[in-house]
Amino acid sequence: MTTVQGSAGRSGVPISIRNVSKVFGEDTEKPFRALSPVDIEIPAGQFISIVGASGCGKSTLMLMVAGLLKRSSGEILCDGKPVDRPITNVGIAFQDHLLLDFRTAFENVMLHADIRGLDRETVAARARELFQQLRLEHAMNKYPRQLSGGMRQRVSLIRTLVHEPDVILMDEPFGALDALTRLQVRTDLEQLWLRRRPTVIFITHSVEEAVGLSDRIIVMSPSPGEVVDDITVELPRPRPIVLGDAPEFASYVDRIHQHFERMGVLHGVTPQTRMAS
Ligand SMILES: Nc1ncnc2c1ncn2[C@@H]1O[C@H](COP(=O)(O)OP(=O)(O)O)[C@@H](O)[C@H]1O
Ligand SMILES: [Mg+2]
Repeated sequence: MTTVQGSAGRSGVPISIRNVSKVFGEDTEKPFRALSPVDIEIPAGQFISIVGASGCGKSTLMLMVAGLLKRSSGEILCDGKPVDRPITNVGIAFQDHLLLDFRTAFENVMLHADIRGLDRETVAARARELFQQLRLEHAMNKYPRQLSGGMRQRVSLIRTLVHEPDVILMDEPFGALDALTRLQVRTDLEQLWLRRRPTVIFITHSVEEAVGLSDRIIVMSPSPGEVVDDITVELPRPRPIVLGDAPEFASYVDRIHQHFERMGVLHGVTPQTRMAS
């Protein structure tokens, strides 16, 4: 395995989430609390995952960090500055790859250069490097419809990273991929992240994926979400593509599953029941 350890130095910025909560329809007769007050201090360059049941407020929290949704309480600081409008030096990735059909893979990646008015040559050079690193050179001049789901998602990853953002926000980016492709893209993401170590907030409902990727995992309760555990993952990097039964890996996964079982999100996941089944 080739490692591309960050020769360019670290580039992430710290993010502070302080007492941040969300009530939708605050001024209506039926306000809905989507997120309980949450405190998370994220150091520069940390890869942090948020796991929790569907509807617990993960996407809501991410949109508030991005400055795309108003908070109901608290404050968010990105690199020490209050977030009260959309943050700019950010790469955002969603489950849907959102590539434009009428642009080739390469030109989709170059969107950032066009939209942000960046130097095309510099961005093109980085883009080529990233295509190469993800073994996608052959796909550069193809249109999204000519690519597999996994390839499209990797092109989308390149687009998220090509302008070298300080912050990356990913909301279940691999949700639409099959299990094997998901493993590959997870490993590719780790490799890319190791180059510059931007600060990453990664939302997933795959516990294995969270443990495979993260420095730290925030476990949320069901709606309205609150933080129930904050776990530091001390596994060496780069992590193997198949984490399998390694005991250190399994103990993190179990710890999170236990939370979900206790909160009624999962049933019958204790090690004993799993062995019996
Ligand atoms: N714009 C909105 N207006 C009202 N309710 C919303 C809105 N966006 C999300 N919600 C509700 O807030 C809760 C949390 O949503 P979301 O953050 O998308 O959850 P998650 O990403 O954890 O699945 C859900 O019950 C959802 O239906
Ligand atoms: Mg969501």
